[in-house]
Formats: sequence, C-alpha cells, structure tokens
Amino acid sequence: MNEAEGKSARLRRHLLSLLRDKLAPHDRLPTERSLAEEFSASRLTVRLVLDQLELEGRVYRVQGSGTFASEPRIAKSVELTSFSEDMRARGLRPGSLAVTEERIPAGAEVGYALGISPAAEVLHVRRVRTADGEPICLEHSYLPSALVPGELGEALRGSLYEELAGHGLAPRRAEQTIRATVLDPADARELRVPAFSPAFLVQRTAYDARGRAVERALSLYRADRYSYELTIYRDCPSYRD
Ligand code: GLP
Repeated sequence: MNEAEGKSARLRRHLLSLLRDKLAPHDRLPTERSLAEEFSASRLTVRLVLDQLELEGRVYRVQGSGTFASEPRIAKSVELTSFSEDMRARGLRPGSLAVTEERIPAGAEVGYALGISPAAEVLHVRRVRTADGEPICLEHSYLPSALVPGELGEALRGSLYEELAGHGLAPRRAEQTIRATVLDPADARELRVPAFSPAFLVQRTAYDARGRAVERALSLYRADRYSYELTIYRDCPSYRD
C-alpha cells in the first residue's frame, strides 16, 4: 500500500467510526479542509474517500453547505402491526362487533399455513372490525388449539395480539399477501356496503419469537375505507463493510 492509499484507508476508517458512533442522521461531517489537515492528506484524497461514502449511501452532499450523515439503513422496512395499533396510528378508535369463536378442524389451507394436520383443531375467531364504530374489516383468525386451549371470550372485544402476548404467543414475524377481491352479499351486508363492493383480502400467517405459527388470518378490508401505507427503503448493494 503506498502512502496515499494508507491515508485514504485511515481516513475512511475514521469517517466510518464517526458515522457509526458520533454522528446522528443529517449531522454535518468535518470539512474537507479540516480532514485534509488532520490526516496530512491532499484535498483530492479526502474528496475521493467522501465520493466513495456518498456512492455507498452513507453520506450525502449539499452544494455549498457540506457533507452530511445519511439516514441509517433500515433492516426491517414494514412493521407487523395489529388492527388496533393500525387504527390508533390513524387516529381512529378500534373496535369489534359480532364476535364469535368456535373449535373446528383446521382443514387443508389453514392446516398447511399453520404447519399442523388438517384434522388438528383450531380456534376460529370471527370479528367485524370497526374504526370509530364503523365496520371496515371482516376478520377470520385461526389459532391452533394446541397453543390456545381455552376460550378467549371477552378478551376478543379488545386486541387479539395483546391477548396472545399474555399467553406468551406474541406475534413477531408474519408472512402476508394482499390481493384485490369483491365482497359477497353476506359479507357486504355486515360491512354495510353494496354487494360485490371491492375489498382487499389480506392473508397473514404470524409466528412467535420461537418460530411457532400462532395465527392464520383472513381479513377483508373495505377498499373504499382502507389503504395500505408503507414506508419503503432502497438498500445500497455496496453499503457493507
Ligand atoms: C391484523 C391482522 C390480523 C390480526 C389482527 C389483530 O388485522 N391482519 O391477522 O388478527 O391484526 O388485531 P387486534 O390485536 O387489534 O385484535
């Protein structure tokens, strides 16, 4: 390694540790000139190191104002939320109507999703979910009886996820698909919209911290009242060290 390469490497290590330990997102980095002095390097060497960090998405430059720390990398881009949390985040009061629970065999689809025999028993919870009292979602949750042996009763008027957490079954990760559909007349009546109104069908399998499938759920959301809002991130492939 020649002298300039050695200086670049040292400068890069220094800047990486500043970015990791000292600087918050959008904080300004030391100026090119002060870095050049501190590392007895040329301005060109400093600029090349900063160019590389910019390319990796770790810093950004603002013309005439300097170089700044970027937003951190986000490993988890979409949060696993419950209906109640989702509604509260939108400033709405969550609720449930027409709550029923019954024990049934899992059947092929639910059994497969939960990784249990189709003949194994599940607790089927059916709820019309409301936002500020208005029905917006029809939700079917299937919980393995082996994990949830007792009835949930009144707890189902509140948050199922909170109830599961109380049983040591808090969902930590989920596989989810969302697709467009229409509401058949009976479901549409419960959601107080015309038959065959558009809806989102959200299918989710949720797993607890031990990796056990704790819930398979089918939720039908009224498309006129619900939208999916995601914050999405673009990771930079060379953004690793
Ligand atoms: C979302 C999920 C369901 C889950 C529900 C729990 O709607 N799609 O799978 O059952 O949240 O919500 P809560 O804890 O409010 O009952």
